[in-house]
Amino acid sequence: MDGNGRWAKKRFLPRFAGHAKGVELVREMVRACLERNVRYLTLFAFSSENWRRPQEEVTLLMQLFVKVLEQEVEKLDRNGVRLRVIGDLSRFDQPLQALIHDAEARTAGNTRLDLTIAANYGGRWDIMQAVNQMLVANPEKRNGWCESDLEPFLSMAFAPEPDLFIRTGGEERISNFLLWQLAYTELYFTDTLWPEFNTAEFDKAVLSYQERERRFGRTSEQLTGKADA
Ligand code: IPE
Ligand code: MG
Repeated sequence: MDGNGRWAKKRFLPRFAGHAKGVELVREMVRACLERNVRYLTLFAFSSENWRRPQEEVTLLMQLFVKVLEQEVEKLDRNGVRLRVIGDLSRFDQPLQALIHDAEARTAGNTRLDLTIAANYGGRWDIMQAVNQMLVANPEKRNGWCESDLEPFLSMAFAPEPDLFIRTGGEERISNFLLWQLAYTELYFTDTLWPEFNTAEFDKAVLSYQERERRFGRTSEQLTGKADA
């Protein structure tokens, strides 16, 4: 969700106004996913690199995170949304960790939409924490590891690999999001700033996805059955 700061700057507003506006878009996207029967929505809210931002912005972002959790969880729960937060949560203060824990517990039985917020998350961190857990779980094993040994320990183990990745704000990179999981995901980049993103833009991204051919390494003929592949 990139472009909050630039959106605010264009309007001569403080960066934080862009983040606040960005929250409205999160609401709209959750609604759009519910209406379209999208089962998994994963949002990159705060990366492990974002701590490098000015202290004031980091503090305001944390306060916004708390406020949103306090205000939205009941509504999410009512709408059948299961909330999870992935990332290294140990860096957050205790009250925020407790809020996250409560929100996850409260919505744990919901099955309409899995909404996952990546906070203090990094794709490399995720892979390394999974490696560490895998090794601890198999103290005797020396070698011969395979992907399926690691996958149960990744933060997104509960979900299938993502079909579509959307990045707003004009940058065309992954920026340490779900590195492992994005291997075959369709990537969609748009110049639209996150606060200006909307349901119509979301549908445009989905349409672009639907027009693509996902081969997973196979040939086009194999997929269409046109050749005896
Ligand atoms: C993304 O918007 C939101 C967070 C990382 C919290 P930015 O804050 O990166 O917005 P720009 O890139 O400065 O416009
Ligand atoms: Mg940015």
